[in-house]
Amino acid sequence: MNQNKHHITDVAIIGSGAAGLSLALSLANHCKVTVLSKGALTEGSTLYAQGGIAAVFDKKNDSIESHVEDTLDAGGGLCDRDAVHYTASNAKKCLKWLIEQGVPFDMEFDSKGKERFHLTREGGHSHRRILHAADATGRAVQTTLISQVQAHPNITLLENYNAIDLITDKSLAKKGKHVHGLYVWNCVDKKVETIAAKFVSLATGGASKVYLYTSNPDVSSGDGIAMAWRAGCRVANMEFNQFHPTSLYHPELQNFLITEAMRGEGAYLKRPDGTRFMKDFDEREELAPRDIVARAIDFEMKRLGANCVYLDISHKDKDFIIEHFPTIYAKCLSVGLDITKEAIPVVPAAHYTCGGVMTDFNGRTDLDNLYAVGEVAYTGLHGANRMASNSLLECIVFAHAAAKDILSKIDASPALEALPLWDESRVTNSDEEIVITHNWHELRLFMWDYVGIVRSTKRLERALHRVELLQQEIHDYYANFRVTNNLLELRNLVQVAELIIRSALERKESRGLHYTIDYPEQNENPTPTILTPKSVAALQ
Ligand code: FAD
Ligand code: SIN
Repeated sequence: MNQNKHHITDVAIIGSGAAGLSLALSLANHCKVTVLSKGALTEGSTLYAQGGIAAVFDKKNDSIESHVEDTLDAGGGLCDRDAVHYTASNAKKCLKWLIEQGVPFDMEFDSKGKERFHLTREGGHSHRRILHAADATGRAVQTTLISQVQAHPNITLLENYNAIDLITDKSLAKKGKHVHGLYVWNCVDKKVETIAAKFVSLATGGASKVYLYTSNPDVSSGDGIAMAWRAGCRVANMEFNQFHPTSLYHPELQNFLITEAMRGEGAYLKRPDGTRFMKDFDEREELAPRDIVARAIDFEMKRLGANCVYLDISHKDKDFIIEHFPTIYAKCLSVGLDITKEAIPVVPAAHYTCGGVMTDFNGRTDLDNLYAVGEVAYTGLHGANRMASNSLLECIVFAHAAAKDILSKIDASPALEALPLWDESRVTNSDEEIVITHNWHELRLFMWDYVGIVRSTKRLERALHRVELLQQEIHDYYANFRVTNNLLELRNLVQVAELIIRSALERKESRGLHYTIDYPEQNENPTPTILTPKSVAALQ
């Protein structure tokens, strides 16, 4: 038995990005909170967010209705209107909360010399409505919130703790829908520990690491989605994987994002011969929603046999470029690319998971005291394609709602149960780590090739066949060998890949981020793709 520690808390939050930290801070004045991060506390997509956070601050020219309409339009007819309205109407309040926490958004002076927030623009937005901290908004949010949670006496931070699985009524051989805690892998001591909690919230981010090329950090392996699925929760819209149009194409600096705000501030997309092409695809040209821009780039690259296209802002004033995009300027310069003088080579990369664990507007999942907040969740906000800068917003809006809901129930929650120990009696140390690395690479490669920007039924069926084989192999491996970080992540990635492929096969139309050559048209009455563990088990 390799059992180490047993932790007890009121609320266990798995994830320390914008969602997890906002939830923790909204709860901690009233109860004990434990926040886990799989790697360093700062590491997650939040840290790398560039463009900003959408909210209506310009009351004269913009409106909540306009934010709602733009989101619905970008979402390809599949957003839940109530979720969109709820998010847009709570946006300003949440941004003010972030400002109170100390996030330093960029300011400017208006024509009368009065200070106001500088608002930038991104694809799909009909107005300037993005608050930002230069081109490193996520870093400003993440570091500010981290300093707040570190200073809070009611928050315990467990860094380098990888959540393995939720402990449910089923694990305790009881009938019901309750979560009692979770098993976690202490990555430093290399031991499995247990956490007993009155409430558990998933805030584990997205699953873009399932693709070979991604703008996401390594932690985005869909763990929360896989854990919730194994525990019996429904997932929705997993076929809508967003590919960001402009990730840097450079051998020395891979998967570095070039923010959409650069197009918002006037950058052009160009073919290798220097001609612009977006007007051939959409009247909004460079500011069309992401699905359209990414598909246009994919089309041009395949048509021309080109390795990349180019994003050019060099026609703008040098000081303007350096002031607005200091991080990108410095990063590109570090590999010999001066963006004030030359165009930037770019390719699309997997960026955002629009689907996820189904929740209501309070972050509640199908299990009684399990919540999901942030990119891990499906709230209905994003539909078939997320509009830029709505994601960090969703993290804060739904974290606040979940905190309120948890606090309304915490006094009446049942006493904590004794949790079963992690059983290692039948496993040994892994002898063949190559099985993991090989399967990992194979999975991400076929997801990129067969389940990418343009899909077909034949490719999806091939991918499903391969994923089923991998699942069997990984299941056997998991049953026989002690866990490691890589094994845990691979097990989750394979699960999420299966959910993506099955959802993509269910959608017999092309909509938003899901484009298939076998069904290029849109259906008249689209609905979200909802998978339940029972219905999928019946297919296997
Ligand atoms: P994350 O910030 O990804 O955090 C996930 C957390 O979960 C991490 O702490 C991780 O360690 C933890 N975790 C995961 N699995 C486990 C496990 N098994 N056990 C323990 N802990 C675990 N959105 C915008 O709105 N505006 C932008 O400008 C913007 N720019 C972006 C730029 C880039 C390069 C990227 C990658 C994304 C961008 N996005 C942007 C999207 C946005 O950043 C993310 O959707 C958002 O940050 C997700 O926050 P989160 O808290 O849900 O997850
Ligand atoms: C970007 O800055 O282009 C990313 C914005 C987002 O993903 O919302």
